[in-house]
Amino acid sequence: MPDIALPIHTDRLILRRFDGHDLDAFHAYHSLPETARFLPGPAKSFTKSMESVGKYANFVFDKEGDWVCLAIEATGSPGLVGEVVLKWLPGCGQAEIGWTLAPEARGKGYATEAAGAVLELGFGELGFHRIEARLDALNYASAAMCERLGMRLEARHLDKWHYKGQWATELVYAILVDEWRARVAG
Ligand SMILES: CC(C)(COP(=O)(O)OP(=O)(O)OC[C@H]1O[C@@H](n2cnc3c(N)ncnc32)[C@H](O)[C@@H]1OP(=O)(O)O)[C@@H](O)C(=O)NCCC(=O)NCCS
Repeated sequence: MPDIALPIHTDRLILRRFDGHDLDAFHAYHSLPETARFLPGPAKSFTKSMESVGKYANFVFDKEGDWVCLAIEATGSPGLVGEVVLKWLPGCGQAEIGWTLAPEARGKGYATEAAGAVLELGFGELGFHRIEARLDALNYASAAMCERLGMRLEARHLDKWHYKGQWATELVYAILVDEWRARVAG
């Protein structure tokens, strides 16, 4: 796997490696129950945020199971506003994408713009064949993002998860490299 060339610049954003200065901003939005609602664990304690930022800052991406975890910053406005992650899944050419924004950064298209850059990274430099997103069917904001990115709804798994005290239906969205290329070209 090649080294990942960072930062990545999009029209309005900079995607870069996390560093220790991101901790307070990261904790501010990951300590909110509303951010955690559709994420696997509870709202993060400060210790958990420290662990995550440390792990993200030092990410290594050279084998299945590894994650690319990129900090999202608005160009001209330094400071963390969210993150986008790409996980290398087992199998040939498979990856999973995920995203989170601070509440004040939502509603501007930033997450879709950042995720688009990471799909381009995944299909380009990293050479993946298929990238999927797995989400709670009640997470309408994430489903809308998948649709905006041109991802196909492949599966609806009823009551696949039990978390946050209730059963949840999982949606699987995916996009293939050729579909992404056609979308970017067209
Ligand atoms: C999922 C999440 C990242 C989506 O955030 P979001 O702000 O809705 O998504 P985007 O940043 O792509 O913004 C899209 C919105 O910005 C609007 N927008 C405004 N200006 C825009 C512009 N210049 N370009 C594109 N969209 C723009 C879009 O119309 C859309 O609004 P709508 O939802 O009212 O239609 C956010 O809800 C979140 O962080 N949730 C908590 C964590 C989470 O659940 N993560 C996913 C687990 S699967």
